[in-house]
Amino acid sequence: MRRKLGHGAFLTIEGPEGSGKSTQVPHIVRWLKSHGYRVRSIREPGCTFLGEKIRETLLSSKHKNITTHAELFLFLAARAQLVEEVILPALKRGEVVVCDRYMDSTVVYQGIAGGLGRDFVERLCAWGAHGLRPDVSFFLDLPYREGLKRSGRKDRMERKSFIFHARVAEGYRKLASGHSRRVVVINAKSDVGSVWRNIEEELKQLFK
Ligand code: TYD
Repeated sequence: MRRKLGHGAFLTIEGPEGSGKSTQVPHIVRWLKSHGYRVRSIREPGCTFLGEKIRETLLSSKHKNITTHAELFLFLAARAQLVEEVILPALKRGEVVVCDRYMDSTVVYQGIAGGLGRDFVERLCAWGAHGLRPDVSFFLDLPYREGLKRSGRKDRMERKSFIFHARVAEGYRKLASGHSRRVVVINAKSDVGSVWRNIEEELKQLFK
């Protein structure tokens, strides 16, 4: 049984490259608004002045030699700013916050696929975000090769090796089974409409 959510809930949406998160977020936001919630929709890294600068650095293919340790701290810095400047105040006002990627991305990409250690990165993420964890996370599950084909492998993260992206996909599955109360697994292989209907069913259960 998942807990019931309402005003001030914190939702995240997660998944490998090309899993369709950014297509689903507007549907989620529309659904929440039509049910009377005030919604703040954001994506990581970014959505603050500092965060957008960090995003540019992290995603630009010009920066070929960013180490995994440096990458970790850059993602954490962007999030630390976002949590204090945007997320916590919005939750305090009773808004529902919908965030496209959050700490599961760091645990999976840097901790598991990047080899920095799942537990260690999980602890660091919790500390960096003042202990703020999502109430529910939708994990859009898609074979990584399909996702990379959809995304076109344009930015620095997408251009990492196939082995890296295979570890990302596997990492998410492991994480989902370890946090089954929080993480809702959605099969992202089907068409956009069916993926949305599955998410909508979950939202109805969570917010009724
Ligand atoms: P983005 O263009 O937002 O990709 P997507 O549409 O797939 O979310 O780029 C974010 C990239 O950064 C994506 O490849 C995942 C990666 N990432 C990490 O490696 N660690 C993190 O903590 C976060 C938030 C993102």
